[in-house]
Amino acid sequence: MSTVQNLQMRVQKLQPSATLPLRSRAQSKPKLIRDSERRYLLEGYRTLVPRDARMEPHLRGVLDDSLAHAGSLVRAQLVFGILRGAGAKKTLARQIAVAIEYFHTASLIFDDMPSMDDAVERRGNACPHVTWGEAAATLGALGLINQAYALLWNGIQTLPVTSRRRAAALVRDSLGVSGILDGQSRDVHFERNAAEADVLEVAEGKTVTLIRLTLLLPSIVAGDGAQTRARLNRLARAWGLAYQIVDDFKDCLLSRDEAGKTTERDELLSRPNLPRRAGLASAMSRLDALLSDARDEVLALARAGGARWRPVLALQEILEKEQAAIARRVALRVCA
Ligand code: IPE
Ligand code: MG
Ligand code: MG
Ligand code: MG
Repeated sequence: MSTVQNLQMRVQKLQPSATLPLRSRAQSKPKLIRDSERRYLLEGYRTLVPRDARMEPHLRGVLDDSLAHAGSLVRAQLVFGILRGAGAKKTLARQIAVAIEYFHTASLIFDDMPSMDDAVERRGNACPHVTWGEAAATLGALGLINQAYALLWNGIQTLPVTSRRRAAALVRDSLGVSGILDGQSRDVHFERNAAEADVLEVAEGKTVTLIRLTLLLPSIVAGDGAQTRARLNRLARAWGLAYQIVDDFKDCLLSRDEAGKTTERDELLSRPNLPRRAGLASAMSRLDALLSDARDEVLALARAGGARWRPVLALQEILEKEQAAIARRVALRVCA
């Protein structure tokens, strides 16, 4: 069978899933949390970094601009939804959720800097370093990280000591020098001809780490047992790698306007990119396999914990829809 036929068959196979027990097919985009909860989170994202009129205008500009353009808030929604499903208070769930989102936003501010990916647009807007300069962007990103730690500390200080230690170790391992920082360092120093396995290793470092924090931190706060945590760990790996492969496809298939961010950086800067390294069809197969593994974990969580894992089911469904959209796009590209 030709590559094109193969891809077209895959597109047919990838029509939205029939078995995720979430909602009727007639409904539009799956929602991780209710609209009212999303508004509550968004308000928290915009306001939980204290700013006052005396703040230096460039620093203030970076914070105001970054917090005005929230992105999908997918990480915050997951954290909030998992915590609320486990009975956590709204204010506590929001603090932890917004903290994770601030880490993510800061990582993107740094990632777009001239010394890293040298991008100019993010979330449909100019990057903070373009508008306010690199110094202000660096300081603003550090401001978000600082506030994120303060919010997390509020969230975990009343936990039993074992959970508190576990949470602190997770935060260190995800965000520290053996986590996302190592991943980003490998990314910017990637050898153009490195092996396919190295591409995935970088994705483990730069992307899986924050997804793991997003899934496991609320589970630790909720007091889940080792079996659930192990399942979430496996889900984080599958989702994180899938996320990065989708992102890599977007870098090579989408225009800046379609993506709302600067694209076509990976080839230019010799960054790891699976579709470029392994070919479009092979990267698509890898994405299929990862999302299929993820689906097994998601369904097992749903069987054991019922409604509690609704946000996780919804994200799986969203990722499968993205996968189908990319497969269609790849098929077009291969045919063209
Ligand atoms: C960014 O990866 C990863 C982190 C910010 C940790 P990319 O460089 O591939 O992300 P995009 O393509 O700029 O969004
Ligand atoms: Mg990058
Ligand atoms: Mg980048
Ligand atoms: Mg990318």
